[in-house]
Amino acid sequence: MQSQSTTNEASLLGLGAMGAALARAAATKGRRLTVWNRTSAKAAPLVAAGVTVAASVAAAVAASPVVIVCVTDYAATRALLEAALLAGKTVVQLSTGTPQEARELAAWATARGARYLDGAILAVPSQVGGPHANLMTSGSREAFAAAEGVLAEMGAVRFVGEPPGAAAALDLAVLSSLFGALLGFYHGARLIEAEQMGVDGLGELMAATAPAIGEMIRIDAESIHHGRYEAPEASLEICWRSMDLLGRHAREAAIDGSFPGFAAEMFQRGITAGFGDEAPAAMIKVLRAASAQKGAR
Ligand SMILES: NC(=O)c1ccc[n+]([C@@H]2O[C@H](COP(=O)([O-])OP(=O)(O)OC[C@H]3O[C@@H](n4cnc5c(N)ncnc54)[C@H](OP(=O)(O)O)[C@@H]3O)[C@@H](O)[C@H]2O)c1
Repeated sequence: MQSQSTTNEASLLGLGAMGAALARAAATKGRRLTVWNRTSAKAAPLVAAGVTVAASVAAAVAASPVVIVCVTDYAATRALLEAALLAGKTVVQLSTGTPQEARELAAWATARGARYLDGAILAVPSQVGGPHANLMTSGSREAFAAAEGVLAEMGAVRFVGEPPGAAAALDLAVLSSLFGALLGFYHGARLIEAEQMGVDGLGELMAATAPAIGEMIRIDAESIHHGRYEAPEASLEICWRSMDLLGRHAREAAIDGSFPGFAAEMFQRGITAGFGDEAPAAMIKVLRAASAQKGAR
């Protein structure tokens, strides 16, 4: 491995699928980058892209003012950074975690004299550096100013607030929306298979309707934000009817009906609570009531 002697713009710890994509995106756009990975062989393909490979975490951290971490989780991040001198550094955590983990790492890094920026990547590795990659960050504004240039090579980067947990909270909320939608899609794919049609056509249709679905979700978010659920274009009861219909189709086609069964039961709770004529976003009131019973916020 090459050793690092000059100061680079940023160091990146972690060259898994995501870390390698981040490094490649920044290096190929001319950013001077030092990298380190536990399994050193993963750094080799990046050398041709112009990165410098550090022999240790301590050397990688010493090499640059900005230290970006993208490993499996926060526990691994903390274990790595224990070995380094962080005073005066800007630490950017891009591994996925909870808001509480972000707050704890922010306090830990700050106590060691670092400026801390938490981040979340809304992309898969092949999208990094392209128009569909979004990076959300939160924490120290000074840390954001120091890291914005290199992060901008990896995706559209946004600062979402000073609370260190803000980016992780938005990330988990997006993941909830994404995987909820994917489970619905997988049921839709079985439905299409049961009707002896091609699932590729469903994929094309979903991509074409994605902006309209995004707009529906944006309107739902406005409803929840303002607490307005009256006079909806489509009521919560209509959502229940759709899920009930899917359940009927699943029985007719003899396919698994777990997803429509779960969704119909959720909307039924909204109808039972008296919100059938309101906007589907009124489901938030059902979920809040359930949280209150458990003593949560
Ligand atoms: N892949 C995605 O689509 C995606 C999307 C958004 C966010 N992310 C987030 O990005 C982070 C990395 O994901 P990935 O896809 O790159 O995962 P990955 O391919 O499994 O790579 C994991 C990385 O973490 C390192 N690592 C794990 N435990 C370690 C430890 N104890 N000490 C040192 N290094 C350790 C691994 O090192 P070795 O190479 O030595 O094993 C490797 O570099 C995760 O938090 C993930 O949630 C991923």
